[in-house]
Amino acid sequence: MLPMDACWISFLMMAELKEMEKLEEPLFILENGDVYTNPTEVKMSQLILPCHANHRGELSTGQLLKWMDTTACLSAERHANCPCVTASVDDIDFEHTLSIGQVVNIKAKVNRAFNTSLEVGITIMCEDPLSGTQWKVCKAFATFVARGSGLGKNTSNNSIAEVQLKPVIPRTSEEQMEYSIAAERRRMRLHHLETIKDLVSSCTIQAESNFEESQSTVPAGMTRVESIELVLPPHANHQSNTFGGQIMAWMESVATISASRFCKGHPVLKSIDMFHFRGPSQVGDRISLKAIVNNAFKTSFEVGVCAEAYHQEDWERKTHINSAFLTFVMLNKDGELSTLPRIKPEPGDGERRYREASARKKIRLDRKYIISRKQTEVPLSVPWDPSNQVYLSYNNISALKMLAAKQNWVLNCTQNKAKLFTLEEGQFLSFKVEMSVSVNIKQVFMLLSDMSRRHEWDTHYHDPYLIALRSVSLPAAPPTEGLVRSEVLCAGFTLSEEEDTRTRITYYIQATPGVLPYITRDITGLSADLCKVFEACNKFLEQNKDMDKVVL
Ligand code: COA
Ligand code: ADP
Repeated sequence: MLPMDACWISFLMMAELKEMEKLEEPLFILENGDVYTNPTEVKMSQLILPCHANHRGELSTGQLLKWMDTTACLSAERHANCPCVTASVDDIDFEHTLSIGQVVNIKAKVNRAFNTSLEVGITIMCEDPLSGTQWKVCKAFATFVARGSGLGKNTSNNSIAEVQLKPVIPRTSEEQMEYSIAAERRRMRLHHLETIKDLVSSCTIQAESNFEESQSTVPAGMTRVESIELVLPPHANHQSNTFGGQIMAWMESVATISASRFCKGHPVLKSIDMFHFRGPSQVGDRISLKAIVNNAFKTSFEVGVCAEAYHQEDWERKTHINSAFLTFVMLNKDGELSTLPRIKPEPGDGERRYREASARKKIRLDRKYIISRKQTEVPLSVPWDPSNQVYLSYNNISALKMLAAKQNWVLNCTQNKAKLFTLEEGQFLSFKVEMSVSVNIKQVFMLLSDMSRRHEWDTHYHDPYLIALRSVSLPAAPPTEGLVRSEVLCAGFTLSEEEDTRTRITYYIQATPGVLPYITRDITGLSADLCKVFEACNKFLEQNKDMDKVVL
């Protein structure tokens, strides 16, 4: 079950997200005339040398993960002012490769601090020093946990003292945006394991029980890799804690060996699912790494890898450090995706992992489809499926926050108590309606989020249980010939407290060109209509202001 506020607001997003892809951020000038730089910003530049590269002369992903983790850790520590350890790194998609001779520029800054943890945003740029050009490679988010010294709630010598991090104060509009969305990402992260578990158990995967031996079937056992590493001082930070990036690099390395055994060639890493560091490790620990191919699809395959730590003197007692799932593809000599052989899983755990890998693939695709910033490549309405609910919610909230943060709204008209603003950007038209009501903010939230009562104030919605505030496609409701389908990219409310008993309600809607003819036909008619709805909404809230049912 998702938290209430994540569910009830709506929609699509990505048109807005592209704003954050700009290479050059505008300068932010302080009152004293100085150019503002984020105090937690840390930059690292590395020239890619042969020792950082694989056999193709491309930067190894493991090396990149180490640099990213170090830069992010230094940024986290600049804010926390005490040692920090990597708690997790969100999913990363690799779409560009970097080659020997190029420069990798990594920039990390703290987006938001919570209690003991903070989110660091990491931007990776590639620079060709010969031509002077730079381009963005990827963006990643890592969470670090601050470890105070002394005794904390854990009894190990790696104890976490009760640290309360100081808040981050976002200054620029980009920082404000990241700050606000960081809370949604945290929600998604903390639900991640649960979501995966739910999805794996509820996912209906086509039974592929036909594991017939054939020329193109590889027994999974042939891809098994077991390797060991000794944690030495260069692998650890100044507190002797192993760098998360080092563990990730070792995991990536054994996963790549396993992948090569499967495809009998040099595979290309496409994505890594979220890394979660379950337990710490220190200098002197032995790290046991095990990998195997869990499942192979038509052109991609998943390798799972598990890392455990133990002490020499107590080698039977292992601590689970991390498990990761990496997706690889194989390219032919023309650079096209090769069709892969099938995998024959080992009985027992192998068959379970085979099924779970299919579920993870579905989740990965859904997530990529919804969260991908390439809105031009995908249809606007995503298929509705309970398994992609968490990603839809994340996007809905981020899209709304981005729309709400826009500066260039134009006041279109004021009617009664409501103000109507419009914003035209490219092919998209957005509306904002704002009013102030003399009802307490919690009551407004409760009343407006009760979809079963929306018809009491909004005559456009007749059947509240079929409302999709962000357009989704339902197989049960295919397009009707002769009728135009319009799509809502983003719609929802923001509520802010004005005084104890007053609330400012702002409703946003961003629509596709399909809706434009309807809107532009009669902008006055439309604004009158919207204002009528808001008048009814005001009345509905006033009438129910004293109804107390739910405590938020
Ligand atoms: N992703 C991001 N943050 C997470 C998380 C996850 N999967 N799981 C927990 N956290 C955050 C919590 O939100 C909390 O932050 P808050 O205080 O700001 O609310 C913080 O971690 C501690 O939460 P707690 O409930 O105490 O979690 P825990 O007991 O599971 O401990 C770690 C979490 C990360 C501290 C613990 O698993 C750990 O020590 N891991 C090893 C870290 C490490 O050494 N990394 C280096 C590589 S080996
Ligand atoms: P799960 O078994 O639920 O996938 P684990 O954390 O035990 O989770 O393992 C993560 C992944 O590591 C597995 O999916 C598998 O691919 C790989 N793995 C685990 N144990 C072994 C092993 N003994 N040999 C090879 N690979 C392993």
